[in-house]
Amino acid sequence: MKAYFYISQPLVPVDSASLERLVASAEVKNAAYGITGFLCFKEVFIQYFEGEANEVDALFATIKADPRHQILNCLVFDNIDCRQFPNWRMKLISRDVLNHDRVEPFLFKQLARAKDKTSHLDKWRKQVWLAVQYIAAQSAHEVAFVETEK
Ligand SMILES: Cc1cc2nc3c(=O)[nH]c(=O)nc-3n(C[C@H](O)[C@H](O)[C@H](O)COP(=O)(O)O)c2cc1C
Repeated sequence: MKAYFYISQPLVPVDSASLERLVASAEVKNAAYGITGFLCFKEVFIQYFEGEANEVDALFATIKADPRHQILNCLVFDNIDCRQFPNWRMKLISRDVLNHDRVEPFLFKQLARAKDKTSHLDKWRKQVWLAVQYIAAQSAHEVAFVETEK
């Protein structure tokens, strides 16, 4: 299994309706290709997705070519042991999830350090992977919290 984690700059205006449409169609397509992950948007997109190598490679090529945004930085995780987000076809998460314990500034710093557009640098990957695991651990709380709020 393999995962991609990137930050991108939107090139078109993004509102909640267009974001929900994007995620709804991503969920359908990802379900068909065995891809799971999350998407977060506020000023920039932050997306993580995981699955079989050929499927995530193909999805990344499609996403990279999407004219709605421009990839700023990306980290690739080869040979991950298991899915971190097995139940999320493409979950739209709020930036609050990333803000906990300064995870978000940490991620920005680490992703920005990966100078190549698609980096395999071990140094940054290990640290960002810990943040991915942290987000996965937080995700159960976030879902419960949103449901109680309604
Ligand atoms: C920030 C961002 C994230 C996206 N994430 C996904 C995704 O997880 N899965 C997906 O299938 N398409 C995703 N897309 C859309 C793809 O770039 C592409 O438009 C879509 O897969 C094309 O589907 P189609 O060929 O069936 O029309 C994303 C686009 C953007 C801008």
